[in-house]
Amino acid sequence: MSKLEELKRRKQAAEDGGGADRTRKQREAGKLLARERLDVLLDPGTFVETGKLVRHQCRDFGMDAQVVDGDGVITGYGAIDGRTVYVFAQDFTVFGGSLSAANARKICQLMDLALKSGAPIIGLNDSGGARIQEGVLSLGGYADIFLRNTLASGVVPQISAIMGPCAGGAVYSPAITDFVFMVDNTSYMFVTGPDVIKTVTHEDVSKETLGGPMTHNSVSGVGHFLEATDEDCLLRIRALLSYLPSNNQDEAPRRPTTDPWDREVMELDTLVPEDPSQPYDIKRVIRAVVDDGEFLEVHAHFAGNIVVGFAHLDGKPVGIVANQPAVLAGCLDINSSVKAARFVRFCDAFHIPIVTFVDVPGFLPGTDQEFGGIIRHGAKLLYAYAEAVVPKITLITRKAYGGAYCVMGSKQVRTDINLAWPSAEIAVMGPEGAVNIIYRRELQDAEDAATVRAAKTSEFRERFANPFVAAEHGFLDDVIEPRHTRRDIVRALRALQNKADHTPPKRHGNIPL
Ligand code: HXC
Repeated sequence: MSKLEELKRRKQAAEDGGGADRTRKQREAGKLLARERLDVLLDPGTFVETGKLVRHQCRDFGMDAQVVDGDGVITGYGAIDGRTVYVFAQDFTVFGGSLSAANARKICQLMDLALKSGAPIIGLNDSGGARIQEGVLSLGGYADIFLRNTLASGVVPQISAIMGPCAGGAVYSPAITDFVFMVDNTSYMFVTGPDVIKTVTHEDVSKETLGGPMTHNSVSGVGHFLEATDEDCLLRIRALLSYLPSNNQDEAPRRPTTDPWDREVMELDTLVPEDPSQPYDIKRVIRAVVDDGEFLEVHAHFAGNIVVGFAHLDGKPVGIVANQPAVLAGCLDINSSVKAARFVRFCDAFHIPIVTFVDVPGFLPGTDQEFGGIIRHGAKLLYAYAEAVVPKITLITRKAYGGAYCVMGSKQVRTDINLAWPSAEIAVMGPEGAVNIIYRRELQDAEDAATVRAAKTSEFRERFANPFVAAEHGFLDDVIEPRHTRRDIVRALRALQNKADHTPPKRHGNIPL
């Protein structure tokens, strides 16, 4: 056989993967093949494969008789909307997509290239974990990848899609990356599986309950996106990338819009209910304000009392953080603090301005929260806002009470432009709670405590439950008519587009983890 013929044969073998039977099984499981996934993910005709001829070097357990070119992972570069990305896709049809020393090296070489060339890294995970026949060599391969995930963090965006199994220590590569996508019915992630759990703790739990997509999207918070099919997942990754720069030195791409930058949004004038205890949906405010009503929500199923995601304003990407009065009255708790803190830090790392909508009655009370460490978790969000140097704009729509006022992008954590609607209430606590404390003696002594309480509450509300005291002290730059929200935020973003701020020199801070 000539060398050219051998080359063709080996490249074809790499494309055939694990053969017809395993390919059929993959399809029966409702999964695309690794190469089909790349076809959906990347702009047509742009994929260039690296390491197609790589073979494992294992001679144990009869492995020398089982060799497949490419060795179970497809690596290479291509384009999404014309911008370069680096991708690896584990091929479950070859040794269950398990990680050998050779295929770990392929992934690492790819990550090194991505880092040097300042382009995002996308990992499509579908693997039985460490290649059992290779033992510690495979574990070393994982550790090599974890190191690179860590070094690339904050330099280039890293995205993981879980499109099949992802178990054991293998979960820690996705966990370090910025966004984790999971596919319904086919993906799962856990450190120890149901069988080990049964042996150790005697708990009976299914794979899905333990580590299925809904568990990780709604309970553990490990997953940021839950998609119905492989196609949906890959298209959503493309959509997410359209909001992100390629690296921490680059600008995110603009998206031209016909939506007028100064469009008045009349419905906002009447959106906040008269009764401060009535909820409303903050996502209506977000969609009404951003370009073309398009909002890509991140972590949509997790900690619904805070909403985070990406949108465009004036054609440029922004990160949105918003308390959600429709869930837990918008209180901050452990999960919402951690969710928002990680999002704020991502935006700050990649020069994406942060727009914050505040309607927060405070931190969620209770022993669950205190015992769970709301002090250190809430501190993460405070730290993240205070540390962020990107343009920061905060709008208080209604409540901004207590410590939560400070945390949620207050002027004092170096937010650039602070705005409020006339409906804003900024105080140490809500009027009812405040009156119970500062008038405790009067209320005890009063013959008609209810009347006294009502009078004092209304007096307190009159004095403090408004935005004017904060504005008088310069904690707000302006109190605006709700209908002008889009115009006023865009003006602020334009004014801040060349903002430069700094933090004292340090190796790195010590965020309360
Ligand atoms: C080598 C593996 C493999 C592995 C699967 N295969 N996992 N080969 N190493 N880790 C092979 C199988 O032998 C089989 O080969 C093919 O892949 C498909 O596997 P099936 O079992 O037939 O598929 P399925 O029924 O869908 O089950 C998938 C599975 C199961 C649940 C993932 O294969 C499984 O439990 N695998 C082992 C998982 C595991 O314990 N991994 C180590 C985790 S610890 P043939 O030739 O028959 O097609 C770990 C540590 C990482 O990963 C440490 C990082 C710090």
